[in-house]
Order: sequence, then C-alpha cells, then structure tokens
Amino acid sequence: MDPTSQDLFDIIARRHCYRGPFKADPVPRNDLQRIVQAGLQAPSGCNAQTTTFVIVDDPALMAAIADIVDRPVVRTARAMIVCCIEHRVVYKDKSFGVEDCAAAVENILLAITALGYATVWLDGVLREDQRAAQIAKLLGVPANREVRILLPLGCPAEPVEAKEKLPFDKRAWFNRHAAAPS
Ligand SMILES: Cc1cc2nc3c(=O)[nH]c(=O)nc-3n(C[C@H](O)[C@H](O)[C@H](O)COP(=O)(O)O)c2cc1C
Repeated sequence: MDPTSQDLFDIIARRHCYRGPFKADPVPRNDLQRIVQAGLQAPSGCNAQTTTFVIVDDPALMAAIADIVDRPVVRTARAMIVCCIEHRVVYKDKSFGVEDCAAAVENILLAITALGYATVWLDGVLREDQRAAQIAKLLGVPANREVRILLPLGCPAEPVEAKEKLPFDKRAWFNRHAAAPS
C-alpha cells in the first residue's frame, strides 16, 4: 500500500497500534492541535461532547507520566494525548461517556496515521495500580473526570506492524447474523 496515500480508506487500513520506540523528531503543536481537533469533531451522545483532552509535550511531565506507565512506547514518545471521560447523564438516565471517548479516539488515531505519526491506545494498563488517578493528579484533571486513554505519539522508529483482521464474512453479514460457531 502506498504509505503517502491520503485516501480515507487507505488511512483506515494503515492505522495500527505501535508499541516500538519513537524517533527524536518532535511533534509540532500545530500537528497536535490538528490531531485533537479531529477528535473534537467526533459524534457524541446528545452532542454532549463529554470527552476532554490534555495534550502533553512538556518533557518534565512526559518523564513523570513515563514513571507512572513504564513502557518503552511511553518513555520515548514525543507527546501524549490524555483522554478524559465525564460520566454525565445526558439522556434520561443514560451516560455515553465511554462511547463518546471511543469515537473521539478513533478519529484521533486516523489523524495521527494521516500525518505520518504512530501511537497505541493505552487503556488497560491505566486501570491497574491507580495509574489513571496518578496521571489525573499530575495533570490537574477535575474530580468529575476520569483519565481513560493515553495516546503516546511520535514518528515511529520501526515499521508499524499490521495486525491481521478476520475476513468480512466472519464478522459481517447482510440482513441476518450467522449462527454462532459451536
Ligand atoms: C478498548 C481498548 C483498550 C486497549 N488497551 C490497550 C492497552 O492497555 N495496552 C496496549 O498495548 N494496547 C491496548 N489496546 C490496543 C489493542 O491491543 C489493539 O488495538 C489490538 O491489538 C488490535 O491491533 P491494531 O490496533 O494494531 O489493529 C487497546 C485497544 C482498545 C480498543
């Protein structure tokens, strides 16, 4: 696939999580702003726009986050997008904070790919050892919000490995779901 192609479907196909080291090249603020703006454009339940973001590019804060989430991909990242959820009831008794955040993050992942950077969706690791709370405290995230996803990013120093996806006919059907495999 042509890595410079900007066709939406190519970008979708090229997007993969990257856990390797990053090059020293910085990510300019203009790019960071464009990337997060893509997240702000995402749909949200009742247009409540419950997801907020802290864009970290300060080296001291980056190092402090890497001390909390000690992974090579975090340690060498040139910037981090910290995605925060607000579990606010917006429709009857319903909150869509998790879904809002996931929609915003997918837009952000695609924008990161389109601009030639790479990232990984870090979520599970934040839910252990109070890491999300530690990052929230470090960044002054208000008590009504939860740090949910961390996106360390930069220019990948290694190729982004494509993960295999199941073929269409194993996961999608017209008009009727296939019987569950026994
Ligand atoms: C809800 C969710 C949570 C995830 N949490 C983590 C995580 O904590 N650590 C990690 O390395 N990857 C995490 N990932 C990335 C997945 O492992 C990755 O998307 C999956 O393996 C498919 O690979 P791909 O993104 O390259 O297509 C998460 C992805 C999602 C959608």
